[in-house]
Amino acid sequence: MKRPVAYLAGTGRGIPTKVMTNHDFAAIGIETDHDWIVERTGIVQRHIGRDDETTTSMAATAARAAMQRAGVTAGEIDAIVLSTATPDRLLPATAVDLQAELGATRAAAFDISAACTGWIYGMTVAEGLMASGVIETALVVSAEKMSAIVDWKDRSTCVLFGDGAGATVLKRAKKERDTHGILSAYMRSDGTLAELLWRPSGGAKVPYSQAVLDDRSTYVKMAGREVFKHAVRSMAEACDRALDAARLTGSDIDILIPHQANVRIIEATAKHANISMDKVYVNVDRYGNTSSASIPIALDEAIERGRVREGTTALFVAFGAGFTWGSMVARF
Ligand SMILES: CC(C)(COP(=O)(O)OP(=O)(O)OC[C@H]1O[C@@H](n2cnc3c(N)ncnc32)[C@H](O)[C@@H]1OP(=O)(O)O)[C@@H](O)C(=O)NCCC(=O)NCCS
Repeated sequence: MKRPVAYLAGTGRGIPTKVMTNHDFAAIGIETDHDWIVERTGIVQRHIGRDDETTTSMAATAARAAMQRAGVTAGEIDAIVLSTATPDRLLPATAVDLQAELGATRAAAFDISAACTGWIYGMTVAEGLMASGVIETALVVSAEKMSAIVDWKDRSTCVLFGDGAGATVLKRAKKERDTHGILSAYMRSDGTLAELLWRPSGGAKVPYSQAVLDDRSTYVKMAGREVFKHAVRSMAEACDRALDAARLTGSDIDILIPHQANVRIIEATAKHANISMDKVYVNVDRYGNTSSASIPIALDEAIERGRVREGTTALFVAFGAGFTWGSMVARF
């Protein structure tokens, strides 16, 4: 396939207004401290959705902003690809709720379940639909209400996550601008490691296993240290693969926009890719880990702040539950 097939025409984000700082955990009985969280993760605060701020409503806010930036109406969207680990309900997909909300009457709509790597997976799937000639315009949305699935009694996980949504409009590349768009993409997974970061129950396999079913088994469980090691290794590998496929090196990259899980993982990834930290977009301090929404939220901010402009070459890289990991190089 000759790339680019697709280019990023617009971005948007939908962020709940309520902010929870590291100091606010004491009020809900969590024994932690600001310095511990900052030192281990870089996180200072996160946004937490109210009851009426759902995965769909955050997705809709992000989608409308992205469509406006791209100059695309709801009727022009051929496919809505929505990544989430927190669907509003298990059936049908959250993507169809978004389709109805936007009035995108011509759009196919489906969810992608790839945890924190969901935006990379979603973008790659949408690009593939364009390459096969099935669609011309896609709305790729990543929306996560992590506050609904974290265990608010487990300090080793609840301090890490936040809520939010990011959206990207993807359009078929124009011939006259054919150096702009997605230049490479890479996706991998390893399901043998699934239980290092997971929600034991909540699916159709009931009873799952008496050994794991306890009163909090619907919440996220994580082996933090193991996840950390795999994240560093996999994100490094993913950077290499996307750069190689685009025939670029770290020095050709103007901005690295990694999944925002932890500033130490981000620093290790940048170091491996030979990209200095002044070229890395970091906002984990303000949002925490918003799972698959973290890259499109960061991209939208980077565009707004002028750090991504016409001609910018960006490297995106993510890692998440599954494990899944992946990367993408795009020129704007
Ligand atoms: C979660 C993470 C911050 C924990 O840091 P760590 O250095 O590995 O810490 P540990 O889990 O080994 O715990 C060390 C101590 O801190 C304590 N601790 C855990 N959470 C704490 C918190 N929020 N506040 C204060 N202390 C805490 C532990 O109880 C433990 O205490 P002990 O030594 O008395 O038993 C770190 O492992 C990490 O960032 N992992 C990657 C997670 C991630 O990004 N996941 C998403 C990937 S998409």
